[in-house]
Parts: sequence; C-alpha cells; structure tokens
Amino acid sequence: MEMSGDRWRYTSHYLTEVFGHQDEHLAGLMADAVRAGLPDIAVSADVGRLLALLTRTTGARRALEIGTLGGYSAIWIARALASDGKLTTIEAVAAHAEFAQAQFERAGVSDRIDVVQGSALEVLPRLADVFGPESIDFVFIDADKREYPSYWNAVRRLVAPSGIVVVDNVLGAGSWWIDDEANDHRAGVDTLNRMVAADPQFESVAFPLRQGVLLARRL
Ligand SMILES: C[S@@+](CC[C@H](N)C(=O)[O-])C[C@H]1O[C@@H](n2cnc3c(N)ncnc32)[C@H](O)[C@@H]1O
Repeated sequence: MEMSGDRWRYTSHYLTEVFGHQDEHLAGLMADAVRAGLPDIAVSADVGRLLALLTRTTGARRALEIGTLGGYSAIWIARALASDGKLTTIEAVAAHAEFAQAQFERAGVSDRIDVVQGSALEVLPRLADVFGPESIDFVFIDADKREYPSYWNAVRRLVAPSGIVVVDNVLGAGSWWIDDEANDHRAGVDTLNRMVAADPQFESVAFPLRQGVLLARRL
C-alpha cells in the first residue's frame, strides 16, 4: 500500500504535536543553531523522546552518540541517563562540537557529556580501547549515512548485553529516500538495515517514525 506524501507529512506532524512536548531550551535550540550557521537536521522532538525513553529503559550508565550536531539529541539522552551516567558524543565538525558544548552548559548537563571532535571511524577504535567490549548500554547513530555499515561493525561488540542501539534515517532524509536505488546514502542504510536484521547477536526492528528509526537490542 502506498502512503501519499501529504499523508506521511500529516502523520509526522501529528506525532510531533502529540508526543513532542519539550522544555524551552530544547524548543529553541535548533533555531539558535541555524542562526549560528548549523544545518537544520536534528531529530524531531518525538524521536528525542524515544531516545530518552530507551536510555531510561536500559538504565544506561554509559551511552555513545555518533553525530552531535548542535547537541539536541544528546541533551535528550543525557537527561535520561542513570545518576552517575555519561554520554560520549562524536562530532566531525569543530563548529558543531563547540556550539553543542555551549548548549550542554546551558542545559546543565555538561558534567554528563564528553564531546569528542573527530571523524567517527577514526575516533571509534580509540574509544573501543578505552571502554572495552560489552561496555556501552545505549548507542545512537546519526552521522554519515554512507558510513553506517562501518559504524555498526565498530560499535556492535561494544554494546552490553540488553544494551540498545538506535539508528536514525534508516528510511531516508531530505534529499534521498529508501526507494532511490541510485543514491549512495540509500545504499549505506540499506546495507546497515540488512546487516543488523541478520546479526545473530541482536534482535531488531525498524519503523517509519519521522525518517525511519532502527532499534536493535543486544541479546
Ligand atoms: C544529522 S546530524 C546529527 C543530529 C543530532 N544527532 C541531533 O539529532 O541533534 C549529523 C552530524 O554528524 C556529523 N558527522 C557527519 N559525518 C561524520 C563523521 N564521519 N564523524 C563524525 N561526525 C560526523 C555532522 O557534522 C553532523 O553534525
């Protein structure tokens, strides 16, 4: 069955309206980010709430994010960590990392978040050495879609038993969609979706919230 573009947009707006309540800082963060020159590509507030809900569900003490942007999703995650919990978030662009750090201070969560500036595929092996296998309770992947299969290979062994991995944009984004077979972003997420679905150490599902969200739980 085909869902028309209008109906898709209506559904997304409806879900954000009903489930996307947030405080004033989060509500204004992306407008400030855009004024500072960052792209307007953060998750929506309903996806933010999903991240918080799942972080809390795992009782996460250690969380990892790939793709910080202005810190919007990181704040949702950090607020939901266990009281002694920490989030490490990786961002390639220095200006994004600096903007996010200022937002973490404003939100009162800077003591719970370490921003690591660098390219994820260079940073992840170093973090793996520091954290060790099966040490991370919650992972959110939201950076370069073409690199999604490599991110999965790098993080899967770091996830603790019963830990959860969330991946954004597994059905598309502004300039491409899952039915656009010629697009290399599409190829990255399609490969990732199939790898995770076939991974015997995880149970997983993806669903069309906003631009597609994948959930995987380490067995
Ligand atoms: C979609 S945005 C992240 C949005 C953020 N998770 C949120 O919802 O608030 C993707 C971010 O990943 C960063 N990024 C892209 N490629 C990267 C890479 N290879 N390593 C680390 N960060 C990368 C981009 O600079 C951008 O800030």
